[in-house]
Amino acid sequence: MISLTVNNKIIKLDIEPQMPLLYALRDELKLTGTKFGCGAGLCGACTVHLDGQAIRSCVTPVSAVDGKKITTIEGLSNNSEHHIQIAWKEFKVPQCGYCQSGQMMSASALLSQNNNPTEQDIETFMQGNICRCGTYKRIKKAIQSAAQ
Ligand code: FES
Repeated sequence: MISLTVNNKIIKLDIEPQMPLLYALRDELKLTGTKFGCGAGLCGACTVHLDGQAIRSCVTPVSAVDGKKITTIEGLSNNSEHHIQIAWKEFKVPQCGYCQSGQMMSASALLSQNNNPTEQDIETFMQGNICRCGTYKRIKKAIQSAAQ
C-alpha cells in the first residue's frame, strides 16, 4: 500500500510500487491535467511538484513518493488562481495547450525558489519543458510578469 498526499489530500493506493506516478495520478486518481508526452523524462509534460520541487512524474515510481507531498496542476491554486496561471492567461501563452500544465508547474517551482529570475535563469530552469508550438517567448514573458 502506497500512501501519499496529493493536493493536500491523503491518498492510499493499492498499486504496483513500480507504477509511474504519472499513471497513478491520471489512471487511479483521475487527475488528468498532468500529461503524458514522451514517457522518458525528456519533455516535461508530466511535471508535478514533490515537496515543492519540479519532478517528472513519468519516470518517478510511486514507491519513491510514498509518504511525500505531491502537487499537480489541479492543486496549484487553492481557492484563487495561482499568479502563474493569471500571467499565463494575461499573455495568452498556450497554443495547443498540451504541454502547458507542465510548463506552469515548472515555472511555479522556479518562482518559489527564485522570485526574481533573470532571463538566463528562466531559460536554464525551463529548458527541459518542450513546447512543439514554440510558445517559449510568451512563457518567458509570463514568468517575468508573475515574478514582479
Ligand atoms: Fe514525462 Fe515527457 S512525459 S518528461
